[in-house]
Amino acid sequence: MSEEFRKALRTITYGLYVVTSRSEEGPVAAAVNFLTQTSFNPPLVVVALKRDSGLQRAVEGSRAFAVNVLAGDQKSLAADFFKPVRVEGNTLNGHPFTLSRTLGLPVLEESPAWFECQVVEKVDQGDHVIYVGKVVDGAVVRQVQRYLVMWDTGWYYGG
Ligand SMILES: Cc1cc2nc3c(=O)[nH]c(=O)nc-3n(C[C@H](O)[C@H](O)[C@H](O)COP(=O)(O)O)c2cc1C
Repeated sequence: MSEEFRKALRTITYGLYVVTSRSEEGPVAAAVNFLTQTSFNPPLVVVALKRDSGLQRAVEGSRAFAVNVLAGDQKSLAADFFKPVRVEGNTLNGHPFTLSRTLGLPVLEESPAWFECQVVEKVDQGDHVIYVGKVVDGAVVRQVQRYLVMWDTGWYYGG
């Protein structure tokens, strides 16, 4: 693909989230921007996960994932989830988590909102595997002025 195409693709606007799941070894998490809602009824969300990453393998196995929403001032928290996940006690990469009430997935205590999904479909194309998740639970934990968007971080993942 030409550099021009890539530049055009990089104009797509995104949020930035920490997606969590669980594997046989324990909790798994990564910062993810390929994520959006695609249906009201039933409430569906799609996420694209890097093939063979720890998170993709965990979602493939558990058929479930949680989305931890980040506030506008949580850029450094997002950056902590570009790295391989390290679990110490009740922390994931140094950030405390609890297990969600419905699917038992890790939810970051610092997240202002979260929701959790059961995988209902998979699209196996390209270098990221697309999972369609039905949202089964979620909550807004605290009000924030704004949510984290890729444009504000100066990072890009796309193109
Ligand atoms: C700005 C940015 C956005 C990212 N977005 C995604 C994404 O949408 N999907 C994904 O699977 N990984 C995404 N990643 C990569 C993950 O955060 C993480 O580095 C990767 O899943 C870890 O893979 P590993 O298990 O192979 O170490 C993104 C990374 C960066 C820096």
